Amino acid sequence: MILPIYIYGSSVLKQKALEITPDYPNLDQLIKDMWETMYYADGVGLAAPQIGLSIRMFVVDGKDLSEDRPELKDFKRLVINPRLLEESQETVVYQEGCLSVPKLYADVERPISVKLAYLNEKFEPVEEWFHGMAARMVQHEFSHLEGELFVDRLPPIRKKMIQGKLHAMARGEVKTFYKTKIVQ
Ligand code: NI
Repeated sequence: MILPIYIYGSSVLKQKALEITPDYPNLDQLIKDMWETMYYADGVGLAAPQIGLSIRMFVVDGKDLSEDRPELKDFKRLVINPRLLEESQETVVYQEGCLSVPKLYADVERPISVKLAYLNEKFEPVEEWFHGMAARMVQHEFSHLEGELFVDRLPPIRKKMIQGKLHAMARGEVKTFYKTKIVQ
């Protein structure tokens, strides 16, 4: 089932999400719905808070970016209860966007590599290093679980410049082809 995506201005996007256990209600269906919702909205990642659930889970699929970045062709992960173990000193700037912050893109600086501990779909523990664009994708989604959006990482002067757009977004004035929701 395709779910509505919560938009900037929704309080769930600002909350630190909680870990889940394998008995979380309807988890299999929820995971299916997250994939379906992400693909429908043409996203490359989706975190549970973006569908209104403050739990530590996200999905990413780099396939749509693999024309320019072949290493992402098979980069597809379901990540549950992630913890950040290590990050590189070296950083890189990439332009980011977000289904919860529609039609707004900005350069964001983040570490070039990160190591996460997480659980996979079978609730088996995994420790994995991510590099380059894969690292960027998981860090963006991980931030959602910490209650942070990419626009929160912008320098104050940049954030001031987009303030008008963000206010309009929070009022529901930015139209998207996918279903959205704002719950303050
Ligand atoms: Ni996002």
